[in-house]
Amino acid sequence: MKAITVKPGKVGVEIKDIELKQIKNKIKVRTISTGICGTDREIVYNELNFVKPEEGDYLILGHEALGIIEESIENSIFKEGDLVVPMVRRPGNCKLCKIGRQDYCLDGNFIEAGIRGKNGFMCEYFYEDEKYLVKINKSIQEYAVLVEPLKNVMKIVEVFNFLKNRVSWECDDSTYSCKGAWIFGTGPEGILISLVFKSLGLITTIVNRHPLPTNILDFLDINGIEFFNSSSDDWSKKLKDYPMDVAIDAAGTTEIFNQIIEHINNNGIIILFGTKGSGSIEKGEFITKIVDKNLSIAGSEDGSKLHYIQASNYLENYAPKQNIKNLITGIYKPEDIWILKEKPKDEIKSIIKWS
Ligand code: BGC
Ligand code: ZN
Repeated sequence: MKAITVKPGKVGVEIKDIELKQIKNKIKVRTISTGICGTDREIVYNELNFVKPEEGDYLILGHEALGIIEESIENSIFKEGDLVVPMVRRPGNCKLCKIGRQDYCLDGNFIEAGIRGKNGFMCEYFYEDEKYLVKINKSIQEYAVLVEPLKNVMKIVEVFNFLKNRVSWECDDSTYSCKGAWIFGTGPEGILISLVFKSLGLITTIVNRHPLPTNILDFLDINGIEFFNSSSDDWSKKLKDYPMDVAIDAAGTTEIFNQIIEHINNNGIIILFGTKGSGSIEKGEFITKIVDKNLSIAGSEDGSKLHYIQASNYLENYAPKQNIKNLITGIYKPEDIWILKEKPKDEIKSIIKWS
């Protein structure tokens, strides 16, 4: 079968012919589509130091996938023809991994499909343990490949719900209609976070330091999400109508962290998701502000099986209302491996169609 592979430690990507061995007690899944994200391109450019093969010297890329069951196993809840999304992260042996919360792994001994220690899904078929498959309703087939990136957002919502319990946080009518969310970064994760916080009823603003292509601006506009260009727009003017009570960073530069600490309201919640982390923070004054404002700051990575299920439910409920199919801006063939090296200008989510 065709498979898109990288050699961990080296720059580059290729399409290879690989046959996988049938594995006992594992379900055979035929890949329908795989999504491409920043992590995949960082792997291709050898920018991540934790990338590892499963065996040999190559790794099949791809952690965002939708597949269809081709051959199930005895007594399985899955039958031929069912649609499934495979999970990325697989547990190690720590206490939290043992209860399905490998997203909070204590010792780092987990593996991740298409990233560290396990082949991914950019290939025509794969064998999978049923525990790591999430059943998908046929009604969302067209965009179910977004379940994987969206599960990260569902975990962010879990973190948000936890942190806001520090103090009475809701508005005086019990809703969030007076509260504002600012999301930094306009990649697919940033846009998905904005959509979900908008659906929670917060005044939602998405930020980048450069202008956006018109297809992205139109998509945000239809969904009632405000765009703020942090290098040319006026911060204080914007903050009057678009308060910053929760700030979520999906870009990961420290420059953004400095801006958030400066502008966020008292009792604000900051959730960091982006991992680029270059630059430095303004220490002294910075700490005073975190304390004076009673800020809560949390990092959030990955998500549990529950979050995959919530992501799939979210798509069933909100995809038609929020025009989510428009997030898929390009559909490519496996042979188009250039798409893993170059990001098209108007890209939100590019996908590879396998069958
Ligand atoms: C995936 C996460 C994963 C992370 C780090 C992201 O692209 O969505 O599930 O934990 O990469 O490897
Ligand atoms: Zn990803």
